[in-house]
Amino acid sequence: MDSVLELYETKFDPEDYLDEYYKELDPEVEFFLYNLHKVFEELKPLNAAIMEIGCGPTITSVLSASKWSSNIFMTDFLQRNIATVDSFLKSTRKSNRWIPYMEAVAQMEKCSCADVEDRLLKSVKYIGHCNVFKTNPVPDIGIKFEILISTLCLEFISKNEEDYVAALMNLKHLLKPNGTIILQGALNNSYYKIKDQEFSSIRLNEEKLREYINKAGFQISSFKSAERICNSNKKADHEGIFFVQAEVI
Ligand SMILES: C[S@@+](CC[C@H](N)C(=O)[O-])C[C@H]1O[C@@H](n2cnc3c(N)ncnc32)[C@H](O)[C@@H]1O
Repeated sequence: MDSVLELYETKFDPEDYLDEYYKELDPEVEFFLYNLHKVFEELKPLNAAIMEIGCGPTITSVLSASKWSSNIFMTDFLQRNIATVDSFLKSTRKSNRWIPYMEAVAQMEKCSCADVEDRLLKSVKYIGHCNVFKTNPVPDIGIKFEILISTLCLEFISKNEEDYVAALMNLKHLLKPNGTIILQGALNNSYYKIKDQEFSSIRLNEEKLREYINKAGFQISSFKSAERICNSNKKADHEGIFFVQAEVI
């Protein structure tokens, strides 16, 4: 198995990851939530097929999407991440972990946290495996998608530019003609840690991102970035964060 995939397979612990990065709502995640809110208010993708790639053990990236569509698919490489999301969505006695995130989205939408949670539970139709390095990243699915979302994923699992572009080209196969991909992530980052375990990253900047995304056959319609706005003790060396919206050419 590829060394990065093996690292995730053997060392990525969902609970430790959540404790490290999702203990409290951090301004960088607020940046992602705000931009997702804005893009979905603009696209208004009524009942569109929407897939998240590399969701990890989190549900934050599909909160805004769930206002518009009850046709949401969530995927990750690791079975234990899938199980963590599945158990949150199905459990009758939910952990409070996601309340601040749902409250933030509810505030943007001027609705209640309960509204956001109710619709999220109804809108996720599928949670399953994906591998962005396969030509068909989600082989069990026979449909094409209007929108893909991927947050803090591709830069952390690519070893170089070729991997990043190849992953994007594979993801393009999941999209309908003119489909949209939303990518969010870290700028100029070389590693993040879960406890003492290090995971590496390729260093992205706006110029490289634009080049890789164009090379993969997408046209960028929106690019936003912000300086690092998290606690200095966050175990990653990124200098900023980004949001990109791009369409299949
Ligand atoms: C840094 S985590 C990001 C999790 C989540 N999206 C977030 O915003 O916190 C990276 C995720 O990529 C997933 N991953 C690793 N290799 C992958 C692959 N080949 N295809 C898809 N996802 C992969 C990992 O399992 C992990 O959940």
